[in-house]
Amino acid sequence: MNSKIIGTGGYLPAKVLTNKDLETIVDTTDDWIIERTGIQQRHISEPGETTSSMATKASIDAIKSANINNDDIDLIIVATTTPDMVFPSTACILQNNLKIKAPAFDVQAACTGFIYAMSIADNYIRTGTSKNVLIVGAEKYSNLLDWSDRSTCVLFGDGAGAVVLSAKPEEGIISSHIHADGQYNDLLDVKNEQIRMKGNEVFKVAVNTLSKLVDETLEKNNMDKSDIDWLVPHQANLRIIKAAAKKLSLSLDQVVVTVDRHANTSAASIPLALNEAVKDGRIKDDQVILLEAFGSGFTWGSVLLRY
Ligand code: UT7
Repeated sequence: MNSKIIGTGGYLPAKVLTNKDLETIVDTTDDWIIERTGIQQRHISEPGETTSSMATKASIDAIKSANINNDDIDLIIVATTTPDMVFPSTACILQNNLKIKAPAFDVQAACTGFIYAMSIADNYIRTGTSKNVLIVGAEKYSNLLDWSDRSTCVLFGDGAGAVVLSAKPEEGIISSHIHADGQYNDLLDVKNEQIRMKGNEVFKVAVNTLSKLVDETLEKNNMDKSDIDWLVPHQANLRIIKAAAKKLSLSLDQVVVTVDRHANTSAASIPLALNEAVKDGRIKDDQVILLEAFGSGFTWGSVLLRY
């Protein structure tokens, strides 16, 4: 059996924080943030909102759009770096919220978490272990930000995205590729519950690594860049996204961009972007989609799929 996406969902907190709002908090400007990152605003959760509550809303949306019942889900994987607590896992809290009786666990691969989760789910489906996997990327980064550090606090936002991946005879996930290299761990980490990043150095490694990842993914499948209909990248920086699009000779209108409105929502960014483009009709049945991400660890990975 193949693994095919049969439903997508998303949730963004109602509260919007604009670049102009940030000008009143730290020494930054709307112009700097837009020029260096493409970000114009981000969503920030209310105090009562948690990673699991956002994950629950995105999951309800995804299960509804998949046109199945909660009981049909036989595995739950949540990709997050901002769990509600160390344990129980956010996946177990979500499982209880949805009243689903299925194994549930979290995956932590920072901004590449959703790609790792898709890769794991694909293997569970291909081996016949699972039929309908709920995969969620959910993050509350506002909890991890040092609101006096302009080099990081302007970059991130909160939200959750979800997909239902199902066993189907027709082609779905074509291949997945996951990687890690721990030698760069001090360039982007969380110490004392706050994000620290050497942004410029991360930027260079991200662009080079994602370029090689595109080659690896296409070569593995004997495909040409012209075979790709849509790029749905992790949304860290519009300049990184443009470099990946250039590598694929794709115009920006074949790239799903949400970083302008969502900022970087880490593991949630790809499922949120995917959900948006599926729901507004841009992504259509049978199209070939490349998902790719790069994040702390470093971790990076891609999923090539036929929608
Ligand atoms: O999602 C996980 C992976 N993360 C990423 O992929 C992020 C990768 N990195 C980036 O996206 C970019 O490196 C940043 C957006 C984080 C920074 O952009 P940059 O063009 O690399 O800027 P920079 O760090 O080299 O800083 C340039 C200048 C510095 O001032 P000086 O030293 O030139 O005087 C910074 O202090 O910009 C200054 N700066 C700011 N100025 C206004 C840094 N942050 C801000 C700010 N507002 N918010």
